Amino acid sequence: MNLIDTLNRPLRDLRISVTDRCNFRCVYCMPKEVFGSNYPYLKRNQILTFEEINRLAKIFSWHGVKKIRLTGGEPLVRKHLPDLIKMLASNPDLDLTLTTNGSLLFQQAQALKDAGLKRVTVSLDSLDDDTFKAMNDVDFPVAKVIEGMDFAYSIGLPIKVNMVVKRGVNESSILPMARFFRERKYILRFIEYMDVGQSNGWRMDDVVSAKEIISLINAEMPLQPADPNYRGEVAERWQYRDGSGEIGVIASVTQAFCRDCNRARISAEGSLYTCLFAIQGHNLRDLIRNGATDEEISEKISQVWHKRADRYSEIRSENTTQLPKVEMSHIGG
Ligand code: GTP
Ligand code: 5AD
Ligand code: SF4
Ligand code: SF4
Repeated sequence: MNLIDTLNRPLRDLRISVTDRCNFRCVYCMPKEVFGSNYPYLKRNQILTFEEINRLAKIFSWHGVKKIRLTGGEPLVRKHLPDLIKMLASNPDLDLTLTTNGSLLFQQAQALKDAGLKRVTVSLDSLDDDTFKAMNDVDFPVAKVIEGMDFAYSIGLPIKVNMVVKRGVNESSILPMARFFRERKYILRFIEYMDVGQSNGWRMDDVVSAKEIISLINAEMPLQPADPNYRGEVAERWQYRDGSGEIGVIASVTQAFCRDCNRARISAEGSLYTCLFAIQGHNLRDLIRNGATDEEISEKISQVWHKRADRYSEIRSENTTQLPKVEMSHIGG
């Protein structure tokens, strides 16, 4: 079935948040002042079970979904995650991956790989412990994240690395990160700091643009643009001219890529969001728990996607940043 939204965009990529919890308190995502011990985290019965997630994944695949990315919060804090991977991996055509902060990767990589996970994206914002700890705000050291990704790579899981760049906080880590991961051959992607959620106090001045990042790296390690791997790829690819690998920039703020956005997101509590910056989701959990058939759920998904007109990054302004939005920790990246 070829599902198309009002801007002629198909549905291809499904991001599923398996928990709203995280063991980090990144200042740009779950600042401690907001996400302290009193924060109303979801209760066990409010989040989707693995069976419910797997059922939704199956129905989404009828609508053209080819990639599933598990997110959080931090997906690896959800107990028994490999059991879910195993269920999802029974569809061999699926590009099955997850985004993690890497803190638990060393312990879990083997089980994830054995269950059928195909690759991993690890978030890391600096190689400098003081800077990294200031960003994760839980005193977590860089070395443990590197240990996790190296181990995952060594057992056959391809690795990408995501670095959110915030002006005045980790700009000085751009070059060291580029040098380090060029040597390691992991694809490093620099993400422009975004105004997701309502708690990170985002200001345009905090954004280091993709253009600035590329010109900084290019001055030391010459780069050339590369074609996208597929239509709608989020990261713009750049190759080192000497053939030593590639990097990416995710320029959601300065070069919006909504035109080809084929991503749907399911929050931990089972709501369908058609944009990272959506105000409201569509409750699929209640539909499931009230006994809806696969066909009824499928119909609901079709209806939502048909009506979809989201293009938040294209219309972002000082005014839109004040709008109510879902928190990143509820729907992942
Ligand atoms: P590949 O599957 O390896 O191509 O990765 P990806 O780039 O699709 O996924 P990833 O989750 O690594 O995306 C990197 C980051 O880009 C996310 O964590 C978000 O910060 C941002 N991002 C991803 N999708 C969107 C989107 O639809 N809109 C916006 N504004 N940002 C996005
Ligand atoms: N801006 C840009 N990227 C963000 N992420 C989390 N919050 C933000 C933000 N405000 C990134 C994380 C991770 C992915 C899930 O999204 O660092 O790489
Ligand atoms: Fe946790 Fe990822 Fe958010 Fe950091 S960005 S607080 S690691 S969910
Ligand atoms: Fe897609 Fe919304 Fe991101 Fe635009 S802002 S690329 S519509 S998720």
